[in-house]
Amino acid sequence: MPSLPDGTGLPSTHPLVDGRTATSPLIDAYRARTPRRRPVWFMRQAGRSLPEYRESRAGTAMLEACLTPPLAAEITLQPVRRHDVDAGIFFSDIVVPLKLAGVDVRIEPGVGPVFGTAHRTAAEVDRLVTEHPAESLDEDALAPITEAVRLTVAELGSTPLIGFAGAPFTLAAYLVEGRPSRDHLAARALMHGDPQTWARLTAWAADVAGRFLRAQVLAGASAVQLFDSWAGSLSLDNYLRSVAPASHRTLSHVADLGVPRVHFGTGTGELLAAMRDVGADVVGVDDRIALDEAVRRLDGRVPVQGNIDPALLAAPWPVLEAHVRDVVARGAVAPGHVVNLGHGVPPTTDPDVLTRVVSLIHSIED
Ligand code: CP3
Repeated sequence: MPSLPDGTGLPSTHPLVDGRTATSPLIDAYRARTPRRRPVWFMRQAGRSLPEYRESRAGTAMLEACLTPPLAAEITLQPVRRHDVDAGIFFSDIVVPLKLAGVDVRIEPGVGPVFGTAHRTAAEVDRLVTEHPAESLDEDALAPITEAVRLTVAELGSTPLIGFAGAPFTLAAYLVEGRPSRDHLAARALMHGDPQTWARLTAWAADVAGRFLRAQVLAGASAVQLFDSWAGSLSLDNYLRSVAPASHRTLSHVADLGVPRVHFGTGTGELLAAMRDVGADVVGVDDRIALDEAVRRLDGRVPVQGNIDPALLAAPWPVLEAHVRDVVARGAVAPGHVVNLGHGVPPTTDPDVLTRVVSLIHSIED
C-alpha cells in the first residue's frame, strides 16, 4: 500500500500542495529524495525538558492543554523556535481522540493515561464500542484538533507539521489494563483468550486513531507518525495475526491523502518489515538495534527515522557527538534518513544539548 504522490486528495491550500513544505528537508528525506540539509526532529521535543513548556503548562491539566487550541499550538511551536528542528510534532496525546469520543480518561503526571474503568471482558469492550462509536469523532468533536493544527501550521511556514496517533495495540494496551503497565499482560491475555473481543476492540481503536490522523492531515499536517510504542512486547507471529490488520486499518484512513506515513515502536527489531508492510512509507527505529542492521532487515526499501540513544543526551559531549556521527553514518545506507531519538526526550534533558545536537547534525557533510 504505497502512498499516493504528495498531496493527492488534499485541499489546494494545504502546505504540501501550495508549496510551503513540499520540498522541505523532512519531506524530501521521507520521500527518498536528497534533502538540502539532513533533517532532524525529536519525539517528545515539546515537553518537560523545556522551561517555556513548564511555564505554559503551569496550572493546566495535560488533556485540558491538548484541547485548548492556542496553547497546543504554542507548545508545538516552542521546540521549533528553540532548536531549529526540521519538523513540529503536534502537541497532543494518543488518548486525546478517546477523550473526544467521550471515554473517561485522564493523564496523571509521572504515570500516564489512566481510565475510569478497565476493559477486560467482552461486556466491557461491548459497552465501550457501543457507547462511544468511532463515528462520534465527527468534524464537531474534532474541532479543537483541527483548530490547533490550523493555528500551528499558519505559524510554521515552510517547516512541516507531523500529525500522529497511537496504534491500536498501544491504545488497547492502556484500555484493557485501564492504566500503564510494564508487560501489557491483560491486553495480551485478551488477545489470546478472546480473539473476537480483541478484534472488536482493536478495529474500534483503529477507526478512532484513523479519524484523529485524518483530521490533522486535512487541517495542514504534512506527514503522520503512527506510534505503536509497545508493539515490541509481541512476537512476530502474534503481531501479524492480532495487531497488523488493525494498524493497516488505521493507516488506510489517510492512504488517499498522499502524505508520508511513519510507523514507530520500541523493541521492534523483529517486527520492522511487518510494521512497514501495514502501509508505512518510513519506519522509525528505536535505539536497541543498529540503524544499518535495521535498514538491512527492511531490505533497504524505505527511508528510516532514528535512532540516537536518549540516554546519551546526558553523557559528556564527546561521547554524544561520536554516537550521533555513528548514527548518521549508519543511516546513510538507507534510501532516506530523518535523524531522531530511539524514543522520547527524557524530561531531565538539558535543552541546550538538544540544540547542539541539531546543529551538529545539520553540519555533517555527506
Ligand atoms: O513532542 C512530542 O512528541 C509531543 C506530543 C506527544 C505527547 N505524547 C505529549 C505528552 C506525543 C507524540 C505523545 C504520544 C504518546 N503518549 C505516546 C506514544 C509515544 C511514546 O512516548 O511512546 C504514548 C505511549 C503516550 C501516553 C503517555 N502520555 C505517557 C506514557 C505519558 C507520560 C506520563 C508522564 O508524565 O511521564 C503521557 C503524558 C504526556 N504526553 C506528556 C507529554 C508532553 C507529559 C505530560 C506533562 O507534561 O505533564
